[in-house]
Amino acid sequence: MAKLTGLNKIKTAVFISGTGSNLKNLINFSKTKKSPISIDLIISNTIKAKGLSYSNQYKIKKKILNFKNIKITEKRLLNLLKQNKIQFICLAGFMKILSSKFIKQFNGKIINIHPSLLPRYKGLNTHSRAIQNKDKFTGCSVHYVTEQLDSGKIILQKKIKILKKDTPKSLAEKVLKQEHKLYPKAILKIFN
Ligand code: GAR
Repeated sequence: MAKLTGLNKIKTAVFISGTGSNLKNLINFSKTKKSPISIDLIISNTIKAKGLSYSNQYKIKKKILNFKNIKITEKRLLNLLKQNKIQFICLAGFMKILSSKFIKQFNGKIINIHPSLLPRYKGLNTHSRAIQNKDKFTGCSVHYVTEQLDSGKIILQKKIKILKKDTPKSLAEKVLKQEHKLYPKAILKIFN
């Protein structure tokens, strides 16, 4: 991706569906001097996403969109992103699949964090699958979003060891901690 320079940070939207710990982490990162991005918009597909509370806490605009009719929703979403001059999108625990039409409009400008060492374990339940398969390692990946689910070019990965005593829950906690380090690093890698 072309290097974006200038005095202003790159206006970024974060898409969430749940707790939003990655969102909170990205907001804190965005406030640091070295961050190339600012977080200007939070999108959620559900009002139940706990992470929406960061909108009030950090005074960031939010929008909840119901993805039942994806065509109509994505049209609204595109307008919203345009109105807010959004240049970059970070998916952070966003559990809806965006259409190829939408992805094409933001080609190369949408990234995602995924709780596995891609290409292993695309999709859901990554930690229980890794344990079931007796994998020795797991981890997380930040990658570009393309039309194929969890298949875009990998920007950065972090590997962690799976211990005998690990459960899907303990692994999820360990991996999430690493996600919080990896996502900002990947953003720095893209723009520096
Ligand atoms: C994270 O572990 C993220 O990698 C995962 O959801 C969690 C969201 O946590 N994303 C996916 O599984 C996407 N396929 P958070 O809401 O606390 O950031």
